[in-house]
Amino acid sequence: MELRKGLEDVAVKETAITYIDGELGRLYYRGYSIFDLAEFSNFEETAYLIWYGKLPNEKELEELRIKLSTNRELPDSIINYIKEVKKDANPMDVLRTAISMLGVEDTDNSDIMEKSIKITSKIPTIISYFYRSRKNLEIIHPDETLSHSENFFYMLNGKKPSEIESKSMDVSLILHMDHEMNASTFACLVVASTLSDIYSSVIAGIAALKGPLHGGANAEALKQFIEIGDKKNVEDYINKRLQSGQRLMGFGHRIYKTYDPRAKIMKEYVKEITKEKGIYNLYEIANAVDEIGIKELGNKGIFPNVDFYSGLMFYSLGFDPDMFPAVFASSRVVGWTAHVVEYLKNNRLIRPKAIYIGEIGRKYLPLEDRQ
Ligand code: CMC
Repeated sequence: MELRKGLEDVAVKETAITYIDGELGRLYYRGYSIFDLAEFSNFEETAYLIWYGKLPNEKELEELRIKLSTNRELPDSIINYIKEVKKDANPMDVLRTAISMLGVEDTDNSDIMEKSIKITSKIPTIISYFYRSRKNLEIIHPDETLSHSENFFYMLNGKKPSEIESKSMDVSLILHMDHEMNASTFACLVVASTLSDIYSSVIAGIAALKGPLHGGANAEALKQFIEIGDKKNVEDYINKRLQSGQRLMGFGHRIYKTYDPRAKIMKEYVKEITKEKGIYNLYEIANAVDEIGIKELGNKGIFPNVDFYSGLMFYSLGFDPDMFPAVFASSRVVGWTAHVVEYLKNNRLIRPKAIYIGEIGRKYLPLEDRQ
């Protein structure tokens, strides 16, 4: 039996959701280019596309918009939990626990898709309530008249977003919505394949996304820009970092061997929003790291990935760095649940093998006879 550590190049399902061309740096959701979706679409419409496989007509979009906007509030038990949990808790732990509590509370018999919409609707509320509670700020209840992205920004910052803030939030969520068979999506499928429930699958996704090798690189990338401090320090910083064997965070990808299209799109919006927020110097530093990093690493197929600019984007939108993976989850939940629904249409229990390398036939000794 062949050992495939990391399951590299092992396909576990067929999918009609997302296609990545890692050589050319292209990404498609349901056949639509990420460049078009980022430019013309919004959270609700792209979520509909990923869940249902087609762009919605007006009625379908309105129906989804209503479901997403009327399900945002949390049960009191979860609001109380969020208010009482320790203020320095990891936001991903809080999110995981709150979703688990929602699963306990949800006793209706609606199908997976309906439950997925409800979960997606509530994640921004969980994140924003925790963000404000831990800063001793009053929580801000959801506003049904606002879009998913506008409401997320509003519940977090306590004010309605400007045009650029609203578009940047939408674009950021669209860019993170799905990415084929990554570690967290696979974790969701492992759970779903046992015919467990959708809350349990989503919790598995959150647990996997929490790890620094998956959801945490964007905060590290932002940390680099802050540490560099001035664009004149970039060359020196990169040389020292690479010579000491450290990686450039936000660079490199298992699939993309060229510029990640999501990073390309994010960069344009980061450029605009950092101007509005008075932190354009951080964009200039990032841009210099981007250019010099490519000179150093591009010949090995190592280029900026989505995390390179998304940390700076989330920071500009008001999120604390330890919240970045939770913001990522608020969008990726659409992809997780769409993959679960697709997988269950033709379910097979996921049960791989391990190659045993231990001893067999050892003699059992009673406790008193052991050394
Ligand atoms: N900086 C410097 N060198 C790098 C980097 C980097 N960021 N990434 C890979 N390399 C080098 C690595 O040192 C190795 O060199 P050598 O062959 O001389 O030992 C070679 O490239 C191959 O590395 P690998 O780890 O086998 O490659 P991989 O395809 O498994 O790595 C990666 C993918 C994302 C884990 C890696 O590029 C990395 O650690 N990047 C930094 C962290 C990061 O930005 N993570 C976000 C990933 S994208 C998230 C998403 O899509 O959701």
